Amino acid sequence: MDNPAPHILECRQVERRYGALAAVDGIDLKVSAGETIGIGGPNGAGKTTFFDLISGLTAVSGGQVLYNGKSITGVPPHKLFHMGMARTFQVTDGFGSLTVLQNIMASVVNGSGKSRPGLRLTRAHRDKSMAVLEDYNLAHLAGDLVSDISALDRKKLMVATAVVHDPQILLLDEPVGGLVPAEIDEFIELMFSLRKRGISIVFIEHVMRFLMTVADRALIMHQGKLIYDGTPQGIASDPTVKSVYLGSEADAIAGGAA
Ligand SMILES: Nc1ncnc2c1ncn2[C@@H]1O[C@H](COP(=O)(O)OP(=O)(O)O)[C@@H](O)[C@H]1O
Ligand SMILES: [Mg+2]
Repeated sequence: MDNPAPHILECRQVERRYGALAAVDGIDLKVSAGETIGIGGPNGAGKTTFFDLISGLTAVSGGQVLYNGKSITGVPPHKLFHMGMARTFQVTDGFGSLTVLQNIMASVVNGSGKSRPGLRLTRAHRDKSMAVLEDYNLAHLAGDLVSDISALDRKKLMVATAVVHDPQILLLDEPVGGLVPAEIDEFIELMFSLRKRGISIVFIEHVMRFLMTVADRALIMHQGKLIYDGTPQGIASDPTVKSVYLGSEADAIAGGAA
């Protein structure tokens, strides 16, 4: 029989220590192509640090991260971006003093992985950027400074700039933190459209309604370790998750009220 295709992402006993603190304490994870995985867990559990280890922002203290079967230890984030791994950040980012269109163009031009294009911006770059803005309902804001647009629009723009070059895998750190329910609904639709494009997604999120609706697999982290890896529906009835993370919210979720 042929060897099965490697997992798009595999973490083997991945670890990050800060002095005596094990921020990430030996995590094993396999992500298959097309999966959407949601990660929850209390503040300080190590979720963002775990993303930093996967995306090359922080060096592992132990263990190994494999991308499409190959070790990516020491590969910097911009190289990983060109290899098809994109991410967004918990703090909504973007170049505030540039316009929405200029932000997208920065990604279109510089993220292509081709030879250095310098500052030459072509009509094709601009057309592609405008098409992306249309896709995300941001075209009417093309000329606005990013510092002036709403939190929802900034979050959408951050995703749009990340996926401009059709990544294989997208890591989203708290994509809907701080949004109101109607805005979260809009983001849920956006996630479904990314899934349809075949992008594998791993996201961190506290908003349980979002996690339960979007993820087909859920992980819960606590004190640097995975304490749950299973169905989103199973979270609410897991005694450990209930005691360290969800508390009374678990009953609301189980009752369908979340
Ligand atoms: N650069 C760092 N130096 C020291 N401690 C850090 C650093 N980054 C994160 N930590 C610590 O690691 C733990 C996990 O943080 P983080 O990954 O941000 O958690 P989460 O995203 O789950 O809220 C926290 O205790 C945090 O203070
Ligand atoms: Mg975090």
